[in-house]
Amino acid sequence: MEIAVVQADCVDYSTPLLAVMLFEDRGSLAAPVAGVDERLSGRISEVLQRGDFKAREGQHLLLYPPEGAIAAERVLLIGLGKREDFDLERIRRAAATAVKQAGRLGVASLATLAPLQDRQPSENVTVKNARALAEGAVLGSYSFDELKTKRENNASQPGLRRMDILEPVEERVAAMEAGVRVGSALGNGESLARTLGNLPGNYATPEYLAERARGIASTFGMKVTILGPSEMEQEGLGAILAVAQGSEQEPRLIVLEHRKGPAEAKPLVLLGKGLTFDAGGISIKPSQGMEEMKFDMCGGAAVLGAMHAIGELDVPANVVGVIPSSENLLSGRAIKPGDVIRSHLGKTIEVVNTDAEGRLILADALSYLRRFDPAAVVDAATLTGACVIALGAQASAVCGNDDGLIEEIRRAGDRVGERVWPLPMFEEYREQIKSDYADIKNSGGRPAGTITAAWFLREFVGDFPWAHLDIAGTAYGEGKLAYQTKGATGVPTRLFVDWVLSRAS
Ligand code: BES
Ligand code: MN
Ligand code: ZN
Repeated sequence: MEIAVVQADCVDYSTPLLAVMLFEDRGSLAAPVAGVDERLSGRISEVLQRGDFKAREGQHLLLYPPEGAIAAERVLLIGLGKREDFDLERIRRAAATAVKQAGRLGVASLATLAPLQDRQPSENVTVKNARALAEGAVLGSYSFDELKTKRENNASQPGLRRMDILEPVEERVAAMEAGVRVGSALGNGESLARTLGNLPGNYATPEYLAERARGIASTFGMKVTILGPSEMEQEGLGAILAVAQGSEQEPRLIVLEHRKGPAEAKPLVLLGKGLTFDAGGISIKPSQGMEEMKFDMCGGAAVLGAMHAIGELDVPANVVGVIPSSENLLSGRAIKPGDVIRSHLGKTIEVVNTDAEGRLILADALSYLRRFDPAAVVDAATLTGACVIALGAQASAVCGNDDGLIEEIRRAGDRVGERVWPLPMFEEYREQIKSDYADIKNSGGRPAGTITAAWFLREFVGDFPWAHLDIAGTAYGEGKLAYQTKGATGVPTRLFVDWVLSRAS
């Protein structure tokens, strides 16, 4: 979707739909909404007064202005909730509501205004509000219909092509355009992550993800390196090869390098689990809900989405994206419970449960990426069912070896509405992954499953700050938020990019 900032007075702007965001608090309407209200002979204040529309968060109401009252054909009121509860997340949701309603109406474009928290917003606030509007609009217009032969009549119908953000004050336009540029790139990157996540295992194979990485590299001038089985053999990536050996699909280790920072600056590394289908292996999963295990590559998808956005924004930083990708299936060649394998780092691993495969492929990737001498590494993985039990869909878990980095990640998550919450890595938890037969075993059992998985990863982390996000509960869902749809959420694409941006400035 195209998003433009237009210097215009909203009462005079011709559009099939003008979306107006309103706070819940009573009191007089502020300009420019007051101007619209006046031209509508006070209809907006009337519906507010009657209580038919209270401007609660998520509420919306469509008005048809009398002929010639204003240039817009329709006015959509959207509730922002109480002024004191206001944050950027409300703007994202309101923008998504606006584009979804526009899609339902079948209009080709809509216009909206940035909500005014105060009369003289700082440049910083202006940029952020415009960015959030763009994020919400792009994500709200997302739908996954690649695999449907008939397009459904929903928000994504090719009808809606454009959103104009109207701004009366000329001095604010440039700042808003800067915000829109960032918001659109974030929305596009997260949409890419969603599509990759939603594509089922027979489409999104390890080689398919590699092909998409090659596309990103050529579009944005990044270096791409793809390792297949023979290169993995040479490199000694025994853990990823072990996971892949039960499958007909060859594994890939995908590396994208965006080098736009100072030559001597150590890179930030984004790492994502790219398990394209997780049947559990010989420790097979129950068939109920197993189709959801196509989402087991959502961490890797978020890395690709983030690299896409970083490329689009030409971020002046050195960033490396790493995605180990494989299937986890069953066959006569599959690894078996009890097998001992040798990782890239050299540590031997007793595979007590073949369903704890994500940590195996990440372990090899973590030791492989040491060659980039990272300034910091952040990984995202749909790693444990235990994380879904602990935090549900409301937050990803974060663990790591550096409290400063964990705090940075937590803040980045808050800024973009992709919350994370820390779990403790007390030394005592490590006991659970001691093995009688190898250096370490790949499962610590059910208690504190998210933390023992993180401890397993930590065994392979080099001497750099590292944070691990368990996104098992947040990577996909029912699509409850206005800017989501059922299926992959794209989380934590925007968190990744926001963190990189915060480091780059
Ligand atoms: N991909 C799963 C984790 C998962 C579960 C993601 C539910 C999303 C929703 C992972 O590979 C897995 O199977 N983990 C096991 C580990 C256990 C065997 C130690 C789990 O959580 O049950
Ligand atoms: Mn598994
Ligand atoms: Zn898995």
